Amino acid sequence: MFQAKLKYNHDMNDSKIIMFVGKGGVGKTTCAAATAVHLASSGARTLALTTDAAPSLCHIFEITEDSKNAAVTPSLDVNELGEAAIRQMWDRKFGREVYEVFNSFVAVSYEEFLEFMTSVLPGLGDEFMVDYIREMRLNSEYQAIVWDTAPLGQTLALLETPAMLEKHLRLAPRIYSKLRSGKQSRETVLDILRRWEKLSAQDMDFLRNDVNFVLVTIPEALAVAQLEGIFSELDRYGLKVRRLIVNNVIKEPDSAFLRSKSEQQKPYLDAIQDKFIRLPVTELPLFPCEIKGMAKLQEVAKLLYRQAAI
Ligand SMILES: Nc1ncnc2c1ncn2[C@@H]1O[C@H](COP(=O)(O)OP(=O)(O)OP(=O)(O)O)[C@@H](O)[C@H]1O
Ligand SMILES: [Mg+2]
Repeated sequence: MFQAKLKYNHDMNDSKIIMFVGKGGVGKTTCAAATAVHLASSGARTLALTTDAAPSLCHIFEITEDSKNAAVTPSLDVNELGEAAIRQMWDRKFGREVYEVFNSFVAVSYEEFLEFMTSVLPGLGDEFMVDYIREMRLNSEYQAIVWDTAPLGQTLALLETPAMLEKHLRLAPRIYSKLRSGKQSRETVLDILRRWEKLSAQDMDFLRNDVNFVLVTIPEALAVAQLEGIFSELDRYGLKVRRLIVNNVIKEPDSAFLRSKSEQQKPYLDAIQDKFIRLPVTELPLFPCEIKGMAKLQEVAKLLYRQAAI
């Protein structure tokens, strides 16, 4: 999937994985892209990744190729992983075997099965992405990986599903321990579930121990109200937020319109500072123009990382 790249000889623990979390439209992609630019320009071989169906990451880097896997600078790659790539990951991990179990109950084609799985388990793509990033980190191809939109809710719950399923199936061991996953396979359903469980546990550990979560918000009622929920959701799974970015802050209101908007933002900015006193909070100003292209992203990066390291 990736072109052959130089392998950098560096301490694996140095590699940074940063995931951006936040409600829709608050500036996650903008901050992720600027962070990738910052990391790449400080010398780290960097990958900016997205699984977003709407191709905003390529748009922001002004990539026009169809490939969705492009080098922006010699040290910065961008990759938009579509459904096809995610299905490939599913295949590689254990698609066929799970399918064969399923097919022993219901006669469906493999394609139909994949469609069913990805619609029944909407976080599945993200789960494979977590695994993909974890593996990529082990391969040390990149020193920094920035994921545009981090998994929440469904994906995190999904990562705990195999363990739960196994627990349930263990209640009927006589059936499930004997049920083979296919005519040629010696694996039982329970074996496959255990394999999935192990994979999910590894991915969860990776999210807990190796990933820096950055939360993005804007100084508006709904976004601020939702912050607490996102925090507690991450907290429930033992995931730590390293930093909070408050985007679209009006810094120099020089019109009646902006003064009014700025006044409205104040209580929300105060509330954020009060509530998240222990977290580094960075305010990113509202730009008077669209943020896309290298020059603009460098400008955002400078504002985001002039005080705090990533
Ligand atoms: N500080 C800013 N000043 C001006 N415009 C901004 C700023 N931050 C983001 N934008 C613009 O706001 C829009 C939404 O930003 P972005 O796509 O980064 O949000 P997102 O959280 O990734 O959205 P989604 O949840 O839809 O993926 C974009 O058009 C972007 O250019
Ligand atoms: Mg986005």
